[in-house]
Amino acid sequence: MIEDQSNRIRIAQPVLGTPEIEAVTRVIKSGMLASGPEVKAFENEFSQYVGSQYACAVNNGTSALSLALSSIGIKPGDEVITTPMTFVATANAIISCGAVPVFADIDETTFNLCPESTKERITEKTAAIMPVHLYGLAADMPAFRKIADEHGIHLIGDAAQAHGAAIGTDRVGTLADIECFSFYPTKNMTTGEGGMVTTNDEHLHSMLDSVRNHGRPDASLGKYDHVRFGLNLRMTDLGAAIGREQLKRVKEFNARRAANAAVFNDKLKIIDGLIVPSVPEGYTHAWHQYTLRCKDRLGLKETLEALDIETRMYYPTLVKDYPHLKPFASSCPVAEKVVDEVISLPVHPGLSPDDVDRIVEAVQTWEMNFKR
Ligand SMILES: Cc1ncc(COP(=O)(O)O)c(C=O)c1O
Repeated sequence: MIEDQSNRIRIAQPVLGTPEIEAVTRVIKSGMLASGPEVKAFENEFSQYVGSQYACAVNNGTSALSLALSSIGIKPGDEVITTPMTFVATANAIISCGAVPVFADIDETTFNLCPESTKERITEKTAAIMPVHLYGLAADMPAFRKIADEHGIHLIGDAAQAHGAAIGTDRVGTLADIECFSFYPTKNMTTGEGGMVTTNDEHLHSMLDSVRNHGRPDASLGKYDHVRFGLNLRMTDLGAAIGREQLKRVKEFNARRAANAAVFNDKLKIIDGLIVPSVPEGYTHAWHQYTLRCKDRLGLKETLEALDIETRMYYPTLVKDYPHLKPFASSCPVAEKVVDEVISLPVHPGLSPDDVDRIVEAVQTWEMNFKR
């Protein structure tokens, strides 16, 4: 449906079409564009999808994280342990509450936050652990649950990249006290901009609902009742209507991502100089990104670019090395090594079988030129 006539294979591409156009048209015709019945319905449908009791829709994933942290009670001076290998929003959300981001190292095979390293960074100020389900692979949440329970601290999941990921039969969205999704257009499903916070805790849900809405106590009270601090972090009915259509198709989108990843794994695992992603036993990967490790990633990038295939480094810099986060930097030797080797190939559901073949052949072309 996206009308792109070029031969270029993009790193990401939302799949939008007639269902989304009709949904948006329905909302426009209703005259109710802000947060209303579509948001409520989307929250119900999303919580059913992940298996959580509650879901709270917001205007983007960064707001979801920041709202989750403040609603769970993270306050200035608290320490929140997270990964340095993530999008900057994870750390910025911690800072937005006045809390201190503490970076622990990552696991070399999954690229996710390492439980052992996390344990080493716990202090009496630690209030929460916030792993990221990076690239769509769930972090080791059973291990983090145990650590959090032992220390009486919160567990928060950054699920921005992991719609549909699971450990066994437990979906991301239920693996922590509170989990936060993004619906940015590059994500596994989109609302344009948008986010969702999921939880099983009734009190927490009422806090989320209130704080995203200028501290209004609940929808039944007056428009100008404000019982606590809050902001306007609400999702629009326009976004929610798109999200409801995307949610109907996310299973199919993820199956296409998984099929593309399976072809890459099969064809690329034999190539010298590449390490293909590995998925722990019992985990369902959402394949938000298909990320290789490659010592010659710049050569690989250049070869694919010449063949009109876009690649990306997620992320070119560890977040702890950005100027505003440098004061919180700590040594994370695994992340420091891996960050210079990762490169992501297009894996999105908009790829045709020919596109997948073209990507494989392009990597094989790089292999022929790669001087070891
Ligand atoms: C790991 C991670 N956390 C948080 C976010 C923030 O989401 P948003 O861009 O919707 O604010 C993103 C999205 O890019 C992300 O990838």
